[in-house]
Amino acid sequence: MIPHDVKPTSKVALILGGNGITGTYLIEHLLTLPESEWSRIIGVSRKPPSPDWLVHDLKLSPLDASQVTQGIGRLTWICADFLEESVEELIAKFKSGRVEGTTHVFFGAYVRIDGTGGPKEHVANTDMFERSIRASIGAAGKTVKRILLQIGAKWYGPHTRKTLPVPLRESLEPDVKGASFYIPQRDFLGSYAAECQQQGLTWDWVITAPYTVWGFTRASYQSLATTIALYATIQAHLGEPLHFPGNNNRWLGADDAICADLLAKFNVWCITTPQCGGELFNVSNGEVFSWEYMWQIFVRYFRCKPPVTSNRRLANPLYSLEKNLASHDGRYGKGSMVWKEIARKYDLDPRAEEYATWWFGDFSLGGSRLVLMSMAKARKFGWTGSVDCEEMVQNILAKMTRAKVIPSQRHIAKL
Ligand SMILES: NC(=O)c1ccc[n+]([C@@H]2O[C@H](COP(=O)([O-])OP(=O)(O)OC[C@H]3O[C@@H](n4cnc5c(N)ncnc54)[C@H](OP(=O)(O)O)[C@@H]3O)[C@@H](O)[C@H]2O)c1
Repeated sequence: MIPHDVKPTSKVALILGGNGITGTYLIEHLLTLPESEWSRIIGVSRKPPSPDWLVHDLKLSPLDASQVTQGIGRLTWICADFLEESVEELIAKFKSGRVEGTTHVFFGAYVRIDGTGGPKEHVANTDMFERSIRASIGAAGKTVKRILLQIGAKWYGPHTRKTLPVPLRESLEPDVKGASFYIPQRDFLGSYAAECQQQGLTWDWVITAPYTVWGFTRASYQSLATTIALYATIQAHLGEPLHFPGNNNRWLGADDAICADLLAKFNVWCITTPQCGGELFNVSNGEVFSWEYMWQIFVRYFRCKPPVTSNRRLANPLYSLEKNLASHDGRYGKGSMVWKEIARKYDLDPRAEEYATWWFGDFSLGGSRLVLMSMAKARKFGWTGSVDCEEMVQNILAKMTRAKVIPSQRHIAKL
């Protein structure tokens, strides 16, 4: 039941984009914190949360899981479409979803429409942010203390800027061409906070900028690790090398990542640390790796043939996952056909490949720039978290195995 004895000091989280890779890890993390600290957690997304996630990952009883969308329990859910519904409709829905008492609003919603960075994507994501924030404040404005907007490293234009400093520091101005909808989102947040202040509301904001988010969730496969793991399973089954979809600069240069679990902890730290108000922070694991090294972890785990190299350089750079594996124009691609066979043989989720973001793998690995995020500012503000990248990969693969999305080690040996 919804606790009626909510103490004035206990916090209520409203997570816009609760089904995403960011949102699910955030909810998983908040649920591990004491109820006396976070009394209610409210997810919002178009689709309801997956029953498998509620029961297997969050360990809710089937009865509790079935009541999440009915507004009963510590975790509750509102299904709403930030693009199809007006602010007034969203306010009404949020109110009936009992968002009253919300103290902290996390925004991690995202929609890809016409390819990364396209004009429709720009308009939709700007619109989605404005409507859902106006609705959150319209429904729970008096109690809201802080709003967190999550953007990404594209803020700095790693793919559009002529020269890119290493590492990327928050003092670098956003790149107008590359940052796309992040700039109007940031501008709206600042101006809306000032407008609300004049009406007596006192919330402030914080912005976090992760680089590539690594994790696994059933609801969103916008995760590089998930995409690579599905690709490696397919290549192992076919007996083909694990070609690297990037170029030699990426292969041999340094890279960094952010573990979705650490990102969740970072976002909670940012939204609750008083001195973080009104600031933008980069976030990464705090250590770097080369793809030449990281790729071997996947090669070994899936017992794949390594990519062909000569003097450490790739013989077949820029192998496109999208071209080689994706389905196009209603025609099933190689990835989909091979996946059906693998899923049947090893009793895996037959739909897993449908969600593989092949384009995202090409996009994330295809650039040639050295993108490294400075964590100096966050450390100065008191952040001490870090993650071992190799352990992060092992944990994600274990989670995917438990979810029956990739074969067990025993079955990989037979692929
Ligand atoms: N993933 C990464 O590697 C990465 C890296 C750096 C930065 N970022 C940034 O981080 C932010 C969050 O990204 P993410 O990867 O966590 O997102 P994601 O996994 O793609 O999840 C997006 C969420 O937005 C919701 N959503 C989409 N359209 C909606 C709509 N019309 N109405 C309501 N909800 C809607 C989805 O709900 P449904 O599932 O119900 O549709 C889902 O919960 C984005 O700005 C992204 O650019 C991501």
